[in-house]
Order: sequence, then C-alpha cells, then structure tokens
Amino acid sequence: MRFILNSPLDMHLHLRDGGMLKNVAKFSAKEFAGALIMPNLLPPITDTQSLLSYKKRILKAVTGEKFTPCMCLFFKESYTADFLEKAKPHITAIKLYPSGVTTNSSGGVEQIDVKKLSPIFEAMSALDIPLCVHGETNGFVMDREKEFGAIYEQLAVSFPKLTIIMEHITTKASAELLKRHENLYATITLHHLLITLDDVAGGLLNPHLFCKPIAKRYEDREALLELALNGDKKAMFGSDSAPHPVSKKECCGCAAGIFSAPIALSALAELFEKHNKLTNLQAFVSNNARDIYKLIPIEKNVTLEKEEWTVPAKFGDVVPMFAGQPLKWQVKCVS
Ligand code: NCD
Ligand code: ZN
Repeated sequence: MRFILNSPLDMHLHLRDGGMLKNVAKFSAKEFAGALIMPNLLPPITDTQSLLSYKKRILKAVTGEKFTPCMCLFFKESYTADFLEKAKPHITAIKLYPSGVTTNSSGGVEQIDVKKLSPIFEAMSALDIPLCVHGETNGFVMDREKEFGAIYEQLAVSFPKLTIIMEHITTKASAELLKRHENLYATITLHHLLITLDDVAGGLLNPHLFCKPIAKRYEDREALLELALNGDKKAMFGSDSAPHPVSKKECCGCAAGIFSAPIALSALAELFEKHNKLTNLQAFVSNNARDIYKLIPIEKNVTLEKEEWTVPAKFGDVVPMFAGQPLKWQVKCVS
C-alpha cells in the first residue's frame, strides 16, 4: 500500500543554527518541499540582514534537496512601516512571542497592548504580511493558551484584513475560537494530535514529550484531531519540531521542545490511516498552507509506503519522538 503527497509543507519548524542546523535540517529538507523557519535564535532574527544570512546557512545545510526555507522575522515593538515594506520581499511572516513564554523568547513583547502596537499590525495588514503568534500568557500552565484567547479576539476584530496564525494550538477553546473569526488560522503539531498531559507527566516523567504549549486534556486532543483529520481549511500542519541536545533534555531544568522532523510524515500517515482519513492528509500537510499563505511550493512528490521501520534512538545528540519505536509507514522515494 502506498500513496503520494504533493509538496508537503511544515509551517512551523525550528532549525537552529551551527552544528545543530547541520544535524537536523536534512530531515525536513528530504521529506518536505518547504517550511516556515522560526526566528527564535540567540539573538533572535530581527533584521533583514541576519534573516538573509540565516537563510543562506540553511540553504547550505540542505544542499542538493528541493526545499524552500520560508523566512520569518521575530516581532519587535520597534518595527516601522518603512522597515516592514523593505523586509516584505524577503519574508513569509512575522512571529510574535510574548516575552519569556518559551525557549529563546526573552526578546519578545513584555505586554501585548494591541492598541499600542496597532501601527505595526496596520502596516502588516496593508502589506499582507501574516502574523504568527505564540499564544500563551504567563499564567497557570494549563490555562495559558485559553487566557491568550482574548488577545487573539482583539487582534482578529481590530485588524480584519490581517492574516493571523494561532501557532501550535492545543485546546478545544482555541479550535472553537478559530472558527469564530474569518482571519484566524492555526497550525497543529503532530505531537498535540497524539499525546495528552498523561503521556508527559501522568506516569514516569517523559522529558522528550515536554514542550510549550504543554499537551492538554483528551477533549482538547479530540478537537484538534477533528480539525486535522477532516482537512479543515483553517488548520495546517506545523510540526514545531524543536531539537535540543540530549544533555538539555535529560536533566533537571529540561528544555521545552520535541524533535519530530524525521518521523513527521510517517507518523502522520499512520494517524490518518488509523482514522480512515488518508485522503485528507494532502490538505492538512500542504494545500491548506498554500491557501492561507498564498504560496506556491516547489514541485516535490513524496511517496509513502506501508512498511514498518524502527526510529533510531538518536540523530546525532538529539532524541527524536518515537525513539526506538516502530512506525508503520515510511517515505520511500522523493521526486
Ligand atoms: C520551541 C523551541 O525549543 O524553540 N519549544 C517548544 O517547546 N515548542 C519554541 C516554541 O515554539 O515554543
Ligand atoms: Zn515552535
């Protein structure tokens, strides 16, 4: 049994830099036609020059593969309409991080005051630059995303022409909010379709499933599954594959992030097949993103075949999701 995915896209990907970039980029580049590259490096990507040199380093790391890194700036309160206009040809989106809510976000926005920031959102809207948002407050860990809902609503209503992407949604409340406003869209990760907080901390603590936003309740996972499995046009795949070296994961003070890039398509195929929804995978991993971002990916056909394989325990010094476990589907050829 086999099927072909046309130009799969990963619209939320952390590739890091230096040795880590060299280690991880090839896994995404092999199986995806493109990805939205997150800008939370240290220091974050806040100007066009560093964005373009980072893009160059990515392209070098994926030499020989048909893969487009779609670049994303790290939102700063100091951005001007003039800066955005000049940046526009080089970027696919701008990512807004509230300060301190996740890995390398300390340079984010301290207090999201939508009114105060409105000149930036107006300019983004006029230039048709999508706004990607890490939608969490600094509140109680299980409520952070729900609490952020008010800001999403305010953004959606105040800037009806602005494309707003609720990144890596994890709750039923977010799935409902998404449906209420025409200009709200969402990425959904593989891991949030598969796990709940029980898998992270219900038994022995699993640091490799620890990420931001933390996986939530069963009913939350159900709501995400409904969107993804039905190929809902407002939702698209964003792996949020976020590699950290094993020394930063298997320790006290474990870093947040799940490394899923090498297993993403295999595990998605298994999940969609289990629910008898394989025909909707193309929409979830490519077509919806094309419509939402108005992009035309490079042509790349990825053939998946039902043949069991075992996920390696490590890739370099990074432990992947499903390490050492069998998966039912594998990518067989890419053309
Ligand atoms: C991401 C990382 O490690 O950069 N971590 C995570 O848990 N998802 C950042 C992010 O997307 O929140
Ligand atoms: Zn992320």
